[in-house]
Amino acid sequence: MCGIVGAIGHPDAASVLYQALQRLEYRGYDSAGICIADGGALDARRAVGKLSALGEVLAKDPLPGMTGIGHTRWATHGKATLNNAHPIMAGAEVAVVHNGIIENHKILKAGLIERGHVFTSDTDTEVLTHLFAEAVASQPDLMSATKHVLGQIEGAYAFAVVAKAFPDQIAIARNASPLAVGLGEGANYIGSDAMAMGSMTRRIIFLKDGDYGVISRDDIELRSEDGTPAQREVVMASASPGLVSKDGYQHFMEKEIHEQPEAIAHTLAEITAADGGFNFELGDAAEMKGMVMLAAGTSHNAAMIGKYWMESLADLPVVTEIASEFRYRNPSVRHLDMAMGISQSGESLDTLMALRYAAEQGLKTLGLVNVAESTIARETDLQLLTRAGPEIGVASTKSFTAQLAVLLGLAAELGQKRGVLSADDAAKIHADLASLPRLMGAAMNSFDDIRPFISQLARAQSCLFLGRGMLYPLALEGALKLKELSYIHAEGYASGEMKHGPIALIEEGLPVIALLSNDEHLPKAVSNLMEAKARGAAVMVICTESTKEAVEDIDTIITVPDCDPLIAPILLSIPAQILSYLTAVHKGTDVDQPRNHAKSVTLE
Ligand code: F6R
Repeated sequence: MCGIVGAIGHPDAASVLYQALQRLEYRGYDSAGICIADGGALDARRAVGKLSALGEVLAKDPLPGMTGIGHTRWATHGKATLNNAHPIMAGAEVAVVHNGIIENHKILKAGLIERGHVFTSDTDTEVLTHLFAEAVASQPDLMSATKHVLGQIEGAYAFAVVAKAFPDQIAIARNASPLAVGLGEGANYIGSDAMAMGSMTRRIIFLKDGDYGVISRDDIELRSEDGTPAQREVVMASASPGLVSKDGYQHFMEKEIHEQPEAIAHTLAEITAADGGFNFELGDAAEMKGMVMLAAGTSHNAAMIGKYWMESLADLPVVTEIASEFRYRNPSVRHLDMAMGISQSGESLDTLMALRYAAEQGLKTLGLVNVAESTIARETDLQLLTRAGPEIGVASTKSFTAQLAVLLGLAAELGQKRGVLSADDAAKIHADLASLPRLMGAAMNSFDDIRPFISQLARAQSCLFLGRGMLYPLALEGALKLKELSYIHAEGYASGEMKHGPIALIEEGLPVIALLSNDEHLPKAVSNLMEAKARGAAVMVICTESTKEAVEDIDTIITVPDCDPLIAPILLSIPAQILSYLTAVHKGTDVDQPRNHAKSVTLE
């Protein structure tokens, strides 16, 4: 993952680089660093841990100068130590910030050591610094030096380099990891995404894979992979929200849970046409054979719920695939004509690569993303946007429910176009979706209802989430949220599957959280949870209001307002999120930046 930034020509480069890193901390927070090239001398400050640690170092020991690069790290090769923090330097000659993995780093390192280079970190990135040290000494200019280095490396990368020999330039390159250049007034900038440069400029050039180049304060020179000059479009990034604040909430996650009614309302506005119907242009829906949905983590759980809707409302065969598995198993796609990538960030490399593979197999690609300028949005044939706004908490909340709203709207639209749903049925779904902001607002009451049960859950070593039908993927999502935030081992199961083995896990007091709504699965789902209760499980039910009549002898029942079972997965997400949030707060874990995690996973 990692975030990289650069600035050239700004009177206080270190401070704009630090601001840009604040916007990229979602990409990793194991260490951070900035290197300034002031009149040719390279000087760096680095710190282990969150960006604020670097802030403290810079406050004591500032870095004046107009040219520099910066990095926030998610550790891959080498632990989160000061030596491994970027910028990685080769003496005082070269400094590099890098996002990605240099796959042939071992063989390159062996050669460099033979040629007398001394390594000071455990990172794969360090081979880049030494290769650049050699290249700037042997090549006539920084562009040729960059080309020379790129000829030797393999892997995924976005990097920026400052060199003592070329004090007024920064070298850049990208392959599979995102990189953008921002055009300023008398200054230019570099960032892993457009948001990083939001306070400096909105005029952005997104590099394509294989691009490399050199930027100075008044020029940007780019080359494509084959070395020919590359003309890349300058686009206006959407207005940056500035540094997003917590608005009085204790955590971003808490704020983002509360923002869901608004996020859904904005998303519904995006997918609603002027005549009140759905606003999707997917080509000939009636002729569609089938779709594969590609996603990771929470977005994959959304895909699984989307599959239920697509199949039941539109009679469209859908397969869901964990993106990181898809392209490595020669999947048969003859029965499909479309691949939908679902991603909050639009940058998850697994999802991007799976979509590229699907495109190579001749499938039309569709990106369902929250970040309009993301790589997935730019590379897919068609785009659907969620309008959840910036999601800063590492755990997805509002982007998940917004994805669900779009998926349900899309299923209804396809259902109508494919002759499966009547116009009235589709209008009813539209009305149900439109009721969500109000119902979600009411579901926020769960904060108070859930609070009394948190201390018990926080003591648990392990926990099960159960759901049937559309609520099975929500059980997976509930378990994912609990484990990533509170570090309690949690599993999600299809309720009916319990008796096929996992029921052996149930012992006295094991927390079992059952998700129920008034759908056709209810009687069987209730029986399954009674089977768990009979074996000593401490059962909590999260359900729609009228469903509670179907459960007996359950002490803890958390309800959300009644709704059509079709939208219940969206509404029931809220107590599931609140449960994990409050447990994490109770345990004192880092809610917004859980350990070992990052918001945007740009590595395979
Ligand atoms: C969990 C979580 C992750 C992401 C996953 C995919 O709360 O946030 O599992 O859902 O890394 O990220 P996107 O949706 O950005 O592709």
